[in-house]
Amino acid sequence: MAKWLDDAIFYEIYPQSFKDSNADGIGDFQGIISKLDYIKDLGCNALWINPCFLSPFGDAGYDVADYYTIAPRYGTNEDARELFEEVHKREMHILLDLVPGHTSVEHKWFKESMKPEKNEYTDRYIWTDSIWEAPEDMGSLRGISDRDGSCALNFFSSQPALNYGYYKITRPWQMSPEDEGPKATLEEMKNVMRFWLTMGCDGFRVDMAGSLVKQDEDGKGTIALWKKVRSFLDEEFPEAAMVSEWGEPDKSLQGGFHMDFLLHFGPSHYNDLFRCEHPYFNKEGKGDISEFAAKYKENYEKSEKKGLICIPSGNHDMGRLSYLLDEEDMKIAFAFLLSMPGAPFIYYGDEIGMRYLENLTSVEGGYNRTGSRSPMQWDDGVNAGFSCAAKEKLYIRQDESADRPTVQKQQVDEDSLYHEIKKLIKIRQSHKALQSKGEIDFVYARKETYPFAYMRSAAEEKILVILNPSNREEEFQCDLELKEHIYSYGGEVKEKGGSIVVPACSANFVLLRSEK
Ligand code: NOJ
Repeated sequence: MAKWLDDAIFYEIYPQSFKDSNADGIGDFQGIISKLDYIKDLGCNALWINPCFLSPFGDAGYDVADYYTIAPRYGTNEDARELFEEVHKREMHILLDLVPGHTSVEHKWFKESMKPEKNEYTDRYIWTDSIWEAPEDMGSLRGISDRDGSCALNFFSSQPALNYGYYKITRPWQMSPEDEGPKATLEEMKNVMRFWLTMGCDGFRVDMAGSLVKQDEDGKGTIALWKKVRSFLDEEFPEAAMVSEWGEPDKSLQGGFHMDFLLHFGPSHYNDLFRCEHPYFNKEGKGDISEFAAKYKENYEKSEKKGLICIPSGNHDMGRLSYLLDEEDMKIAFAFLLSMPGAPFIYYGDEIGMRYLENLTSVEGGYNRTGSRSPMQWDDGVNAGFSCAAKEKLYIRQDESADRPTVQKQQVDEDSLYHEIKKLIKIRQSHKALQSKGEIDFVYARKETYPFAYMRSAAEEKILVILNPSNREEEFQCDLELKEHIYSYGGEVKEKGGSIVVPACSANFVLLRSEK
Protein backbone atom coordinates (compact mmCIF):
# COMPACT_ATOMS: atom_id res chain seq x y z
CA MET A 1 0.00 0.00 0.00
CA ALA A 2 1.26 3.49 -0.88
CA LYS A 3 3.14 5.06 2.04
CA TRP A 4 1.30 8.36 1.57
CA LEU A 5 -1.89 6.76 2.89
CA ASP A 6 -0.35 6.43 6.37
CA ASP A 7 -1.20 10.03 7.19
CA ALA A 8 -3.68 10.87 4.41
CA ILE A 9 -6.64 13.11 5.25
CA PHE A 10 -8.96 13.49 2.27
CA TYR A 11 -11.16 16.37 1.19
CA GLU A 12 -14.01 15.50 -1.18
CA ILE A 13 -14.73 18.09 -3.86
CA TYR A 14 -18.00 18.12 -5.76
CA PRO A 15 -16.50 20.06 -8.69
CA GLN A 16 -19.72 21.73 -9.84
CA SER A 17 -20.07 23.49 -6.51
CA PHE A 18 -16.60 24.30 -5.25
CA LYS A 19 -15.24 27.35 -7.04
CA ASP A 20 -16.16 28.90 -10.38
CA SER A 21 -13.26 30.70 -12.09
CA ASN A 22 -14.96 31.75 -15.34
CA ALA A 23 -18.30 33.13 -14.16
CA ASP A 24 -20.53 30.52 -15.82
CA GLY A 25 -22.11 29.54 -12.50
CA ILE A 26 -20.43 26.12 -12.35
CA GLY A 27 -17.24 25.22 -10.52
CA ASP A 28 -14.18 24.22 -12.54
CA PHE A 29 -10.59 22.96 -12.35
CA GLN A 30 -9.00 26.42 -12.32
CA GLY A 31 -11.31 27.22 -9.42
CA ILE A 32 -10.10 24.14 -7.57
CA ILE A 33 -6.47 25.07 -8.27
CA SER A 34 -7.09 28.51 -6.76
CA LYS A 35 -8.30 26.88 -3.52
CA LEU A 36 -5.61 24.22 -3.06
CA ASP A 37 -3.77 26.40 -0.54
CA TYR A 38 -6.98 26.69 1.49
CA ILE A 39 -7.35 22.89 1.60
CA LYS A 40 -3.70 22.39 2.47
CA ASP A 41 -3.89 25.03 5.20
CA LEU A 42 -6.91 23.25 6.72
CA GLY A 43 -4.59 20.25 7.00
CA CYS A 44 -5.97 17.95 4.30
CA ASN A 45 -3.30 16.41 2.11
CA ALA A 46 -5.41 14.47 -0.38
CA LEU A 47 -8.43 15.09 -2.62
CA TRP A 48 -11.23 13.08 -4.14
CA ILE A 49 -13.00 14.76 -7.03
CA ASN A 50 -16.41 13.52 -8.18
CA PRO A 51 -16.63 12.46 -11.86
CA CYS A 52 -15.32 15.15 -14.16
CA PHE A 53 -15.55 13.41 -17.55
CA LEU A 54 -17.64 14.15 -20.61
CA SER A 55 -21.26 13.45 -19.70
CA PRO A 56 -24.82 14.54 -20.40
CA PHE A 57 -25.05 15.00 -16.60
CA GLY A 58 -28.20 13.00 -16.02
CA ASP A 59 -26.60 11.82 -12.77
CA ALA A 60 -24.15 14.64 -12.05
CA GLY A 61 -21.42 13.00 -14.14
CA TYR A 62 -21.91 9.44 -12.90
CA ASP A 63 -23.20 8.86 -16.43
CA VAL A 64 -19.96 8.98 -18.38
CA ALA A 65 -20.03 9.54 -22.15
CA ASP A 66 -16.25 9.44 -22.65
CA TYR A 67 -13.83 8.28 -19.96
CA TYR A 68 -10.85 9.91 -21.65
CA THR A 69 -12.06 13.52 -21.89
CA ILE A 70 -12.62 16.12 -19.17
CA ALA A 71 -16.08 17.71 -19.35
CA PRO A 72 -15.66 21.17 -20.96
CA ARG A 73 -17.53 22.79 -18.05
CA TYR A 74 -14.53 21.89 -15.83
CA GLY A 75 -11.81 22.64 -18.37
CA THR A 76 -9.63 20.52 -20.65
CA ASN A 77 -7.37 17.52 -20.22
CA GLU A 78 -4.55 20.07 -20.00
CA ASP A 79 -6.28 21.70 -17.02
CA ALA A 80 -6.47 18.26 -15.41
CA ARG A 81 -2.74 17.80 -15.93
CA GLU A 82 -2.14 21.24 -14.40
CA LEU A 83 -4.37 20.36 -11.45
CA PHE A 84 -2.37 17.17 -10.80
CA GLU A 85 0.88 19.15 -10.96
CA GLU A 86 -0.37 21.88 -8.63
CA VAL A 87 -1.57 19.23 -6.18
CA HIS A 88 1.81 17.48 -6.23
CA LYS A 89 3.71 20.77 -5.84
CA ARG A 90 1.96 21.08 -2.49
CA GLU A 91 2.84 17.49 -1.53
CA MET A 92 -0.78 16.49 -1.79
CA HIS A 93 -2.44 13.64 -3.71
CA ILE A 94 -5.57 13.41 -5.83
CA LEU A 95 -8.07 10.66 -6.62
CA LEU A 96 -10.46 10.80 -9.57
CA ASP A 97 -13.83 9.08 -9.51
CA LEU A 98 -13.97 5.94 -11.64
CA VAL A 99 -17.42 4.74 -12.68
CA PRO A 100 -16.85 1.19 -13.95
CA GLY A 101 -20.37 -0.21 -13.47
CA HIS A 102 -22.21 1.71 -16.17
CA THR A 103 -21.94 4.44 -18.77
CA SER A 104 -24.35 7.01 -20.08
CA VAL A 105 -26.68 5.91 -22.86
CA GLU A 106 -24.80 8.52 -24.88
CA HIS A 107 -21.50 6.68 -24.71
CA LYS A 108 -20.33 5.51 -28.14
CA TRP A 109 -19.90 1.97 -26.79
CA PHE A 110 -23.60 1.89 -25.99
CA LYS A 111 -24.60 3.29 -29.36
CA GLU A 112 -22.60 0.51 -31.02
CA SER A 113 -23.95 -2.06 -28.60
CA MET A 114 -27.55 -1.19 -29.55
CA LYS A 115 -26.93 -2.23 -33.16
CA PRO A 116 -28.40 -5.56 -34.29
CA GLU A 117 -25.21 -6.38 -36.25
CA LYS A 118 -22.48 -7.98 -34.15
CA ASN A 119 -19.57 -5.63 -33.43
CA GLU A 120 -16.80 -4.95 -30.92
CA TYR A 121 -19.29 -3.58 -28.37
CA THR A 122 -22.09 -6.15 -28.68
CA ASP A 123 -21.11 -7.75 -25.35
CA ARG A 124 -19.85 -4.62 -23.57
CA TYR A 125 -23.21 -4.30 -21.78
CA ILE A 126 -25.53 -6.90 -20.28
CA TRP A 127 -28.20 -7.81 -22.84
CA THR A 128 -30.75 -10.58 -22.75
CA ASP A 129 -31.26 -12.40 -26.05
CA SER A 130 -34.87 -11.43 -26.52
CA ILE A 131 -36.77 -8.18 -26.10
CA TRP A 132 -39.44 -10.21 -24.25
CA GLU A 133 -37.07 -11.22 -21.46
CA ALA A 134 -35.83 -8.69 -18.90
CA PRO A 135 -32.86 -9.46 -16.63
CA GLU A 136 -34.04 -10.66 -13.23
CA ASP A 137 -33.70 -8.29 -10.24
CA MET A 138 -32.54 -5.38 -12.40
CA GLY A 139 -34.21 -2.60 -14.32
CA SER A 140 -33.84 -2.72 -18.08
CA LEU A 141 -33.96 -0.69 -21.26
CA ARG A 142 -36.21 -2.27 -23.85
CA GLY A 143 -37.45 -1.43 -27.31
CA ILE A 144 -34.96 1.37 -27.80
CA SER A 145 -33.18 -0.05 -30.85
CA ASP A 146 -33.38 -2.83 -33.43
CA ARG A 147 -31.26 -5.14 -31.32
CA ASP A 148 -33.46 -7.95 -30.09
CA GLY A 149 -32.84 -7.94 -26.35
CA SER A 150 -33.26 -5.95 -23.13
CA CYS A 151 -30.28 -4.14 -21.67
CA ALA A 152 -29.73 -4.25 -17.89
CA LEU A 153 -29.62 -0.99 -15.96
CA ASN A 154 -27.19 -0.36 -13.14
CA PHE A 155 -28.76 2.73 -11.60
CA PHE A 156 -30.92 5.35 -13.35
CA SER A 157 -32.64 4.57 -16.67
CA SER A 158 -29.86 6.44 -18.49
CA GLN A 159 -27.13 4.19 -17.01
CA PRO A 160 -26.87 0.79 -18.77
CA ALA A 161 -24.81 -1.84 -16.94
CA LEU A 162 -21.38 -2.70 -18.29
CA ASN A 163 -20.79 -6.42 -18.64
CA TYR A 164 -18.32 -8.06 -16.23
CA GLY A 165 -20.17 -11.36 -16.30
CA TYR A 166 -22.26 -13.39 -13.87
CA TYR A 167 -21.00 -15.41 -10.92
CA LYS A 168 -23.97 -17.76 -10.95
CA ILE A 169 -25.20 -18.37 -14.50
CA THR A 170 -28.87 -19.23 -14.77
CA ARG A 171 -29.78 -18.04 -18.31
CA PRO A 172 -28.09 -18.73 -21.66
CA TRP A 173 -27.33 -15.02 -22.38
CA GLN A 174 -25.48 -14.56 -19.10
CA MET A 175 -21.70 -14.67 -19.52
CA SER A 176 -18.91 -15.75 -17.22
CA PRO A 177 -16.31 -13.17 -16.14
CA GLU A 178 -13.87 -15.26 -18.18
CA ASP A 179 -15.79 -14.81 -21.44
CA GLU A 180 -14.36 -12.49 -24.09
CA GLY A 181 -16.96 -9.71 -23.69
CA PRO A 182 -16.56 -9.27 -19.90
CA LYS A 183 -12.78 -9.62 -20.18
CA ALA A 184 -12.67 -6.85 -22.79
CA THR A 185 -14.76 -4.57 -20.54
CA LEU A 186 -12.26 -5.01 -17.70
CA GLU A 187 -9.29 -4.46 -20.00
CA GLU A 188 -10.82 -1.21 -21.21
CA MET A 189 -11.38 -0.06 -17.63
CA LYS A 190 -7.70 -0.77 -16.93
CA ASN A 191 -6.84 1.38 -19.95
CA VAL A 192 -8.91 4.20 -18.48
CA MET A 193 -6.99 3.90 -15.20
CA ARG A 194 -3.67 3.73 -17.05
CA PHE A 195 -4.53 6.89 -19.00
CA TRP A 196 -5.23 9.07 -15.95
CA LEU A 197 -2.53 7.55 -13.73
CA THR A 198 0.02 8.19 -16.48
CA MET A 199 -1.18 11.77 -16.68
CA GLY A 200 -0.54 12.12 -12.95
CA CYS A 201 -3.57 11.33 -10.84
CA ASP A 202 -2.83 9.23 -7.75
CA GLY A 203 -5.67 6.75 -7.85
CA PHE A 204 -9.44 6.39 -7.85
CA ARG A 205 -12.53 6.37 -5.75
CA VAL A 206 -14.53 3.59 -7.38
CA ASP A 207 -18.27 3.95 -7.81
CA MET A 208 -20.48 0.98 -6.85
CA ALA A 209 -17.37 -1.19 -6.70
CA GLY A 210 -19.07 -4.11 -5.01
CA SER A 211 -21.64 -4.88 -7.68
CA LEU A 212 -19.74 -5.38 -10.95
CA VAL A 213 -20.19 -9.14 -11.31
CA LYS A 214 -23.89 -10.00 -11.21
CA GLN A 215 -25.68 -12.78 -9.28
CA ASP A 216 -22.73 -12.76 -6.94
CA GLU A 217 -24.34 -13.03 -3.52
CA ASP A 218 -21.18 -13.30 -1.41
CA GLY A 219 -19.16 -11.00 -3.66
CA LYS A 220 -16.75 -13.76 -4.66
CA GLY A 221 -16.81 -12.93 -8.39
CA THR A 222 -16.39 -9.20 -7.80
CA ILE A 223 -13.58 -9.81 -5.27
CA ALA A 224 -11.76 -11.95 -7.85
CA LEU A 225 -12.16 -9.20 -10.46
CA TRP A 226 -10.68 -6.51 -8.20
CA LYS A 227 -7.78 -8.78 -7.26
CA LYS A 228 -6.82 -8.72 -10.93
CA VAL A 229 -6.98 -4.93 -10.92
CA ARG A 230 -4.77 -4.84 -7.83
CA SER A 231 -2.12 -7.02 -9.52
CA PHE A 232 -2.16 -4.69 -12.51
CA LEU A 233 -1.72 -1.66 -10.26
CA ASP A 234 0.97 -3.27 -8.12
CA GLU A 235 2.90 -3.96 -11.27
CA GLU A 236 2.43 -0.69 -13.16
CA PHE A 237 1.44 1.94 -10.55
CA PRO A 238 2.47 0.73 -7.08
CA GLU A 239 1.93 4.18 -5.53
CA ALA A 240 -1.69 4.37 -6.73
CA ALA A 241 -4.48 4.26 -4.18
CA MET A 242 -7.96 2.84 -4.60
CA VAL A 243 -10.95 3.48 -2.36
CA SER A 244 -14.18 1.63 -2.95
CA GLU A 245 -17.78 2.59 -2.59
CA TRP A 246 -18.61 -0.86 -1.26
CA GLY A 247 -19.44 -0.46 2.42
CA GLU A 248 -18.22 -3.93 3.32
CA PRO A 249 -14.53 -3.63 4.15
CA ASP A 250 -14.18 -7.35 4.81
CA LYS A 251 -14.94 -7.97 1.12
CA SER A 252 -13.44 -4.89 -0.49
CA LEU A 253 -10.08 -5.10 1.26
CA GLN A 254 -9.83 -8.84 0.52
CA GLY A 255 -10.40 -7.83 -3.09
CA GLY A 256 -7.29 -5.66 -2.99
CA PHE A 257 -8.76 -2.21 -2.43
CA HIS A 258 -6.49 -0.11 -0.23
CA MET A 259 -9.50 1.53 1.41
CA ASP A 260 -13.25 1.05 1.73
CA PHE A 261 -15.87 3.57 2.84
CA LEU A 262 -18.46 3.03 5.50
CA LEU A 263 -21.68 4.21 3.87
CA HIS A 264 -25.19 5.37 4.62
CA PHE A 265 -26.45 2.02 3.32
CA GLY A 266 -25.21 -1.52 3.97
CA PRO A 267 -24.43 -3.31 7.20
CA SER A 268 -21.94 -0.91 8.88
CA HIS A 269 -24.30 0.99 11.24
CA TYR A 270 -22.62 4.20 10.01
CA ASN A 271 -25.99 5.96 10.16
CA ASP A 272 -26.17 5.36 13.92
CA LEU A 273 -23.45 8.00 14.28
CA PHE A 274 -24.94 11.07 12.61
CA ARG A 275 -27.99 10.19 10.54
CA CYS A 276 -30.84 8.36 12.26
CA GLU A 277 -33.71 9.20 14.59
CA HIS A 278 -31.35 9.45 17.57
CA PRO A 279 -27.79 9.97 16.31
CA TYR A 280 -25.10 9.07 18.84
CA PHE A 281 -23.29 12.36 18.24
CA ASN A 282 -26.17 14.52 19.39
CA LYS A 283 -26.42 16.11 22.81
CA GLU A 284 -29.92 14.72 23.45
CA GLY A 285 -27.88 11.63 24.40
CA LYS A 286 -30.31 8.96 23.18
CA GLY A 287 -28.05 7.26 20.66
CA ASP A 288 -26.48 3.84 20.58
CA ILE A 289 -22.86 3.24 19.56
CA SER A 290 -22.68 -0.44 20.48
CA GLU A 291 -23.74 -1.94 17.16
CA PHE A 292 -21.50 0.39 15.18
CA ALA A 293 -18.52 -0.54 17.36
CA ALA A 294 -19.28 -4.27 17.20
CA LYS A 295 -19.58 -4.22 13.42
CA TYR A 296 -16.46 -2.08 13.07
CA LYS A 297 -14.49 -4.53 15.22
CA GLU A 298 -15.78 -7.47 13.19
CA ASN A 299 -14.73 -5.80 9.91
CA TYR A 300 -11.41 -4.69 11.34
CA GLU A 301 -10.59 -8.25 12.33
CA LYS A 302 -11.96 -9.87 9.17
CA SER A 303 -10.04 -7.53 6.88
CA GLU A 304 -6.79 -8.49 8.66
CA LYS A 305 -5.36 -4.97 8.27
CA LYS A 306 -5.06 -5.54 4.52
CA GLY A 307 -6.28 -1.97 4.02
CA LEU A 308 -8.07 0.94 5.63
CA ILE A 309 -11.66 1.44 6.72
CA CYS A 310 -12.60 5.04 5.91
CA ILE A 311 -15.33 6.99 7.69
CA PRO A 312 -16.56 10.06 5.79
CA SER A 313 -18.09 13.15 7.40
CA GLY A 314 -20.65 12.90 4.61
CA ASN A 315 -20.70 12.88 0.84
CA HIS A 316 -22.71 14.08 -2.16
CA ASP A 317 -25.31 11.32 -1.61
CA MET A 318 -26.32 11.94 2.01
CA GLY A 319 -27.75 14.70 4.13
CA ARG A 320 -25.22 17.21 5.48
CA LEU A 321 -23.63 16.45 8.85
CA SER A 322 -25.19 19.64 10.22
CA TYR A 323 -28.74 18.42 9.52
CA LEU A 324 -29.18 16.70 12.89
CA LEU A 325 -26.07 17.94 14.71
CA ASP A 326 -25.41 21.43 16.06
CA GLU A 327 -21.98 23.05 16.07
CA GLU A 328 -20.97 21.59 19.43
CA ASP A 329 -22.11 18.11 18.34
CA MET A 330 -20.14 18.47 15.13
CA LYS A 331 -16.94 19.35 16.97
CA ILE A 332 -17.24 16.11 18.94
CA ALA A 333 -18.18 14.22 15.76
CA PHE A 334 -14.98 15.50 14.13
CA ALA A 335 -12.96 14.50 17.22
CA PHE A 336 -14.27 11.00 16.45
CA LEU A 337 -13.72 11.17 12.67
CA LEU A 338 -10.18 12.46 13.12
CA SER A 339 -9.15 9.96 15.77
CA MET A 340 -10.35 6.74 14.15
CA PRO A 341 -8.08 4.47 12.11
CA GLY A 342 -8.25 4.62 8.31
CA ALA A 343 -8.08 7.77 6.24
CA PRO A 344 -10.72 10.38 7.20
CA PHE A 345 -12.74 11.99 4.40
CA ILE A 346 -14.15 15.50 4.87
CA TYR A 347 -16.94 16.50 2.47
CA TYR A 348 -16.41 20.05 1.16
CA GLY A 349 -18.19 22.58 3.34
CA ASP A 350 -18.59 20.22 6.30
CA GLU A 351 -15.59 21.95 7.86
CA ILE A 352 -17.71 25.08 8.25
CA GLY A 353 -20.96 23.25 8.96
CA MET A 354 -22.66 24.06 5.64
CA ARG A 355 -26.35 23.24 5.76
CA TYR A 356 -28.57 20.82 3.93
CA LEU A 357 -30.97 22.92 1.86
CA GLU A 358 -34.48 21.55 1.95
CA ASN A 359 -37.03 21.46 -0.86
CA LEU A 360 -34.70 22.29 -3.72
CA THR A 361 -35.78 21.30 -7.21
CA SER A 362 -33.60 18.41 -8.34
CA VAL A 363 -30.49 19.36 -10.32
CA GLU A 364 -28.84 16.84 -12.67
CA GLY A 365 -30.24 13.73 -11.02
CA GLY A 366 -29.61 14.95 -7.49
CA TYR A 367 -33.23 14.67 -6.21
CA ASN A 368 -33.11 14.81 -2.40
CA ARG A 369 -29.31 14.82 -2.61
CA THR A 370 -29.36 18.26 -4.25
CA GLY A 371 -29.56 19.98 -0.85
CA SER A 372 -26.12 18.62 0.10
CA ARG A 373 -24.54 19.81 -3.15
CA SER A 374 -25.03 23.56 -2.97
CA PRO A 375 -22.17 25.94 -3.87
CA MET A 376 -19.40 26.44 -1.33
CA GLN A 377 -19.68 29.50 0.88
CA TRP A 378 -16.32 31.24 0.90
CA ASP A 379 -16.94 34.82 2.01
CA ASP A 380 -19.35 37.76 2.23
CA GLY A 381 -18.91 38.70 -1.43
CA VAL A 382 -21.19 38.05 -4.42
CA ASN A 383 -22.62 34.51 -4.30
CA ALA A 384 -20.58 33.94 -1.14
CA GLY A 385 -17.42 34.10 -3.23
CA PHE A 386 -18.34 31.00 -5.22
CA SER A 387 -18.93 32.65 -8.59
CA CYS A 388 -19.26 36.04 -10.25
CA ALA A 389 -22.17 34.82 -12.41
CA ALA A 390 -25.67 36.20 -11.98
CA LYS A 391 -27.36 34.49 -9.04
CA GLU A 392 -29.89 32.72 -11.31
CA LYS A 393 -27.05 31.06 -13.22
CA LEU A 394 -25.60 29.24 -10.22
CA TYR A 395 -25.47 25.46 -10.62
CA ILE A 396 -27.61 24.99 -7.52
CA ARG A 397 -29.24 27.70 -5.43
CA GLN A 398 -27.12 28.76 -2.48
CA ASP A 399 -27.96 28.87 1.19
CA GLU A 400 -29.48 32.34 1.37
CA SER A 401 -29.91 32.66 5.11
CA ALA A 402 -28.26 35.70 6.72
CA ASP A 403 -26.36 33.54 9.19
CA ARG A 404 -25.06 31.06 6.62
CA PRO A 405 -21.59 29.87 7.61
CA THR A 406 -18.68 31.02 5.45
CA VAL A 407 -14.98 30.27 5.48
CA GLN A 408 -14.25 33.96 6.05
CA LYS A 409 -16.48 34.20 9.14
CA GLN A 410 -15.12 31.00 10.62
CA GLN A 411 -11.52 31.93 10.04
CA VAL A 412 -11.83 35.05 12.18
CA ASP A 413 -13.69 33.25 14.97
CA GLU A 414 -11.23 31.20 16.99
CA ASP A 415 -13.98 29.07 18.51
CA SER A 416 -15.40 28.03 15.16
CA LEU A 417 -15.87 24.50 13.88
CA TYR A 418 -13.27 25.27 11.20
CA HIS A 419 -10.61 26.05 13.82
CA GLU A 420 -11.50 23.01 15.93
CA ILE A 421 -11.06 20.77 12.89
CA LYS A 422 -7.75 22.40 12.04
CA LYS A 423 -6.57 21.80 15.58
CA LEU A 424 -7.73 18.16 15.53
CA ILE A 425 -5.90 17.56 12.25
CA LYS A 426 -2.66 18.96 13.70
CA ILE A 427 -2.96 16.67 16.71
CA ARG A 428 -3.67 13.63 14.54
CA GLN A 429 -0.68 14.41 12.36
CA SER A 430 1.67 14.67 15.33
CA HIS A 431 0.75 11.26 16.81
CA LYS A 432 1.31 8.06 14.84
CA ALA A 433 -1.12 6.25 17.15
CA LEU A 434 -3.96 8.44 15.86
CA GLN A 435 -3.15 8.02 12.16
CA SER A 436 -4.43 5.55 9.55
CA LYS A 437 -2.62 2.46 10.76
CA GLY A 438 -2.56 2.95 14.53
CA GLU A 439 -4.30 0.06 16.26
CA ILE A 440 -7.73 0.42 17.85
CA ASP A 441 -9.22 -1.32 20.87
CA PHE A 442 -12.68 -0.42 22.03
CA VAL A 443 -12.59 0.29 25.76
CA TYR A 444 -16.18 1.33 26.40
CA ALA A 445 -18.98 1.05 23.81
CA ARG A 446 -22.11 -0.09 25.64
CA LYS A 447 -25.68 -0.28 24.47
CA GLU A 448 -27.50 3.09 24.68
CA THR A 449 -24.75 4.41 26.93
CA TYR A 450 -22.35 7.34 26.95
CA PRO A 451 -19.40 7.93 26.76
CA PHE A 452 -17.66 6.07 23.94
CA ALA A 453 -14.01 5.27 24.58
CA TYR A 454 -11.31 3.58 22.57
CA MET A 455 -7.58 3.23 22.69
CA ARG A 456 -5.33 4.01 19.74
CA SER A 457 -1.78 2.75 19.78
CA ALA A 458 1.39 2.58 17.72
CA ALA A 459 4.69 1.24 19.06
CA GLU A 460 5.04 2.62 22.62
CA GLU A 461 2.40 5.32 22.27
CA LYS A 462 -1.10 4.70 23.66
CA ILE A 463 -3.86 7.27 23.48
CA LEU A 464 -7.27 6.93 25.09
CA VAL A 465 -10.04 8.74 23.20
CA ILE A 466 -13.11 9.53 25.30
CA LEU A 467 -16.13 11.05 23.59
CA ASN A 468 -19.23 12.17 25.42
CA PRO A 469 -21.60 13.93 23.00
CA SER A 470 -24.48 13.78 25.53
CA ASN A 471 -25.38 16.80 27.65
CA ARG A 472 -24.93 14.78 30.87
CA GLU A 473 -21.79 14.22 32.87
CA GLU A 474 -20.98 10.53 32.68
CA GLU A 475 -18.72 8.15 34.55
CA PHE A 476 -17.36 4.80 33.43
CA GLN A 477 -15.21 2.12 35.01
CA CYS A 478 -11.69 2.17 33.66
CA ASP A 479 -8.44 1.37 35.37
CA LEU A 480 -6.10 2.69 32.70
CA GLU A 481 -3.60 5.18 34.08
CA LEU A 482 -3.97 8.58 32.49
CA LYS A 483 -0.82 10.58 31.87
CA GLU A 484 -1.46 13.71 29.88
CA HIS A 485 -4.32 15.35 27.98
CA ILE A 486 -3.25 16.06 24.40
CA TYR A 487 -6.67 17.30 23.28
CA SER A 488 -9.60 18.46 25.26
CA TYR A 489 -12.87 20.02 24.18
CA GLY A 490 -15.64 20.77 26.68
CA GLY A 491 -13.51 20.08 29.79
CA GLU A 492 -10.96 17.48 30.86
CA VAL A 493 -11.79 13.98 32.10
CA LYS A 494 -10.81 13.09 35.69
CA GLU A 495 -9.78 9.84 37.37
CA LYS A 496 -11.86 8.83 40.38
CA GLY A 497 -10.83 5.56 42.03
CA GLY A 498 -11.06 3.06 39.17
CA SER A 499 -13.47 5.25 37.17
CA ILE A 500 -13.20 8.17 34.82
CA VAL A 501 -15.56 11.13 35.10
CA VAL A 502 -16.38 12.67 31.74
CA PRO A 503 -17.84 16.18 31.37
CA ALA A 504 -21.02 16.67 29.33
CA CYS A 505 -20.47 17.49 25.62
CA SER A 506 -16.76 16.74 25.65
CA ALA A 507 -14.01 15.07 23.67
CA ASN A 508 -10.66 14.12 25.18
CA PHE A 509 -7.51 12.43 23.89
CA VAL A 510 -5.30 11.32 26.77
CA LEU A 511 -1.84 9.77 26.65
CA LEU A 512 -1.60 6.67 28.82
CA ARG A 513 1.31 5.66 30.97
CA SER A 514 3.18 2.91 29.20
CA GLU A 515 3.21 -0.43 31.00
CA LYS A 516 6.37 -1.32 32.85
C1 NOJ B 1 -22.95 6.30 -6.24
C2 NOJ B 1 -22.64 7.75 -6.43
O1 NOJ B 1 -22.01 8.26 -5.29
C3 NOJ B 1 -23.95 8.42 -6.75
O2 NOJ B 1 -23.86 9.80 -6.69
C4 NOJ B 1 -24.41 7.93 -8.09
O3 NOJ B 1 -25.69 8.47 -8.38
C5 NOJ B 1 -24.51 6.40 -8.12
N1 NOJ B 1 -23.40 5.76 -7.49
C6 NOJ B 1 -24.59 5.88 -9.53
O4 NOJ B 1 -23.37 6.02 -10.19
